[in-house]
Amino acid sequence: MLTEVTATRYVTPLREGGSLPGLLEADDLGTYVTKFTGAGQGRKTLVAEVICGRLAQHLGLRVPELVQVQLDPVIGLSEPDEEVQELLKTSGGLNLGMDFLPGSLGFDPLAFEVSAQEAGRVVWFDALVNNVDRSWRNPNMLVWHDDLWLIDHGAAMIWHHNWPTAAGASGKPYDASDHALAPFAPDVASAAADLAPRVTRDLLARCAADVPETWLLDEPGFDTPDALRDAYTEVLADRARTIHERVTIGTPSADRPSQAPGWLTARPGQTRPGQKGGDAQ
Ligand SMILES: Nc1ncnc2c1ncn2[C@@H]1O[C@H](COP(=O)(O)OP(=O)(O)OP(=O)(O)O)[C@@H](O)[C@H]1O
Ligand SMILES: [Mg+2]
Repeated sequence: MLTEVTATRYVTPLREGGSLPGLLEADDLGTYVTKFTGAGQGRKTLVAEVICGRLAQHLGLRVPELVQVQLDPVIGLSEPDEEVQELLKTSGGLNLGMDFLPGSLGFDPLAFEVSAQEAGRVVWFDALVNNVDRSWRNPNMLVWHDDLWLIDHGAAMIWHHNWPTAAGASGKPYDASDHALAPFAPDVASAAADLAPRVTRDLLARCAADVPETWLLDEPGFDTPDALRDAYTEVLADRARTIHERVTIGTPSADRPSQAPGWLTARPGQTRPGQKGGDAQ
């Protein structure tokens, strides 16, 4: 289970985030970038954040510490921005917090050198969870104290938006041509040799166990949250074995539209995952 904290103050919205994440202070005196269950992208993005974030941490990749944030919507009453007030009103209960990295900068490939080894580990991991949201358009990486940190895994595991077809996801390829680390000659083969054997069913089950139960309820086709947790474990365990054989890194194209699903950038209240049609694989 993730550490639970209680929000004590809404500090400010992070306007650059499509899901309108907010900076919150909590009763442990920590400051957390918080993503809300009431956001238009839905709670599955939070599930993806937990499973992928925890998995990355276990594999030695840097991801800010994750906590579950208990929110009393009353906190939003004094918030002048109506959009924020609405978001807080609909997000009572558990939300997802990420330790705020003060003074971190967005990753800039011209200003920060990444080794082929580290690039390979990140690209292999993104291939495993099918993260299409770490492109040069939107790197979703921060540089903090001269280290690379990964954020924003909400768009990963797109198969969990369509469970009946999810079993086929383990065989799907991963095109890393537009990945933000593609220019650093990622050594995906070495990364796979090191990391794939560590992605055991046991490790995956521990990551899935960190997802709050309330985010796993009422999924059609699954009687219990644990049955759904098992489904996450199965797809990732299968995919880990051979995904490195299906990673391609071609020429990034400046004019090709982003592979990221459109609903990702939708504001709360706009298109929801369930309305996005053919995106799920
Ligand atoms: N742990 C953190 N510490 C400091 N800043 C952060 C942290 N997490 C996120 N941010 C900042 O907040 C922005 C939005 O975060 P994030 O990308 O996770 O949200 P999002 O709504 O999923 O965004 P989008 O879909 O637009 O990429 C980041 O680009 C970054 O500037
Ligand atoms: Mg982002």
